[in-house]
Amino acid sequence: MPGKKINIFDTTLRDGEQVPGCKLNTKEKIELALALEDLGVDIIEAGFPISSPGDFNSVREITKVIKNASVCGLSRAVQKDIEVAADALKYAVRPRIHTGIGTSDIHIRGKFNSNREEILLRAIQCVKWAKSFVDDVEFYAEDAGRTENEYLARVIEAVIAAGATVVNIPDTTGYCLPHQYGEKIAYLVKNVPNIDKATISCHCHNDLGLATANSIAGIISGAGQIECTINGLGERAGNTSLEECVMIIKQHHSLGFYTNINTQKLNPVSHLVSETMRMPVQPNKAIVGSNAFAHSSGIHQDGFLKEALTYEIINPDEVGADGSKIVLTARSGRSALAHRFQKLGYQFNRNDIDVLYQQFVEVADKKKEVKDDDLHEMAKQYHAEEVGI
Ligand code: KIV
Ligand code: ZN
Repeated sequence: MPGKKINIFDTTLRDGEQVPGCKLNTKEKIELALALEDLGVDIIEAGFPISSPGDFNSVREITKVIKNASVCGLSRAVQKDIEVAADALKYAVRPRIHTGIGTSDIHIRGKFNSNREEILLRAIQCVKWAKSFVDDVEFYAEDAGRTENEYLARVIEAVIAAGATVVNIPDTTGYCLPHQYGEKIAYLVKNVPNIDKATISCHCHNDLGLATANSIAGIISGAGQIECTINGLGERAGNTSLEECVMIIKQHHSLGFYTNINTQKLNPVSHLVSETMRMPVQPNKAIVGSNAFAHSSGIHQDGFLKEALTYEIINPDEVGADGSKIVLTARSGRSALAHRFQKLGYQFNRNDIDVLYQQFVEVADKKKEVKDDDLHEMAKQYHAEEVGI
């Protein structure tokens, strides 16, 4: 596989599960964790063990069944949180503790009523505590998106020196523009002397619809891990969508990256997550929405039927989707109508289609979508008129 491997850190079971209405029980979490491992994710963030006995139990049970992926538990920069996370992870083949603290002045003053020096010490301390339990410690600098770069670089250098193996640079509020987020990662690559001792991770939220773009800007600037969720689920407007990042990396191989994701499983896993978390996927969602491979306007349908590449940059099979769809609406043209009649077994010539098309647009103007039953009815009437019934 050419290029640089980008680790996929899935947080559907932690940041995704924080969404109101998406809460999962242990059995559901285990089922999704197994599906994520089968999909090929490198790290599964299984939960926030201190948050509730139920979540502690889910994380622990997940560690018993996951054999290939790393299993990660979240904690705050609080000793008790870290101890409980370590306990929940004690059966994991590859345990990772994810610990950290807010580093922006807004968080330092507004949330902790503290100052930069105290927060720096707490950051170092939490990594040391976590390191006493596991080798693999990820540090998050919450609200890094709004943290001044110079201070962020000091914190990151210090936590790497304390033993962090992964440094997470979250755009917690989805505030950054792609070039700003990319520049932040580039700044850390350039200004943190020990940065080669850790992997930089992108964790972006979607408040301005930029989570995926920001994560891609991050890896272009040197990050080696993307934190994401299936269907982009997550706090408020969601997290970076796993399927979008993976397919951007695959489609744009000239970027020089690859992932371990089996892309044919993207749609099946998306459906499983949507059903289990009771959270429908918007129809126009990239890669996994029901309209992601649907063509409904005449211009597009005509081009697509002549050559699929004209209007599809991804083969639906490659992402495990049901296939391309030609949807008949009042905006459809004769090619699509002729194609559908042919699929239904009718042999109409050009003249027939011209006549039938007039009836079709009248029906289509009254309905949102013209279905096969409507076409059978039109064909029946057309034949009846032809033989003069
Ligand atoms: O968005 C965020 O900053 C987080 C951290 C806890 C990693 O989810
Ligand atoms: Zn988050």
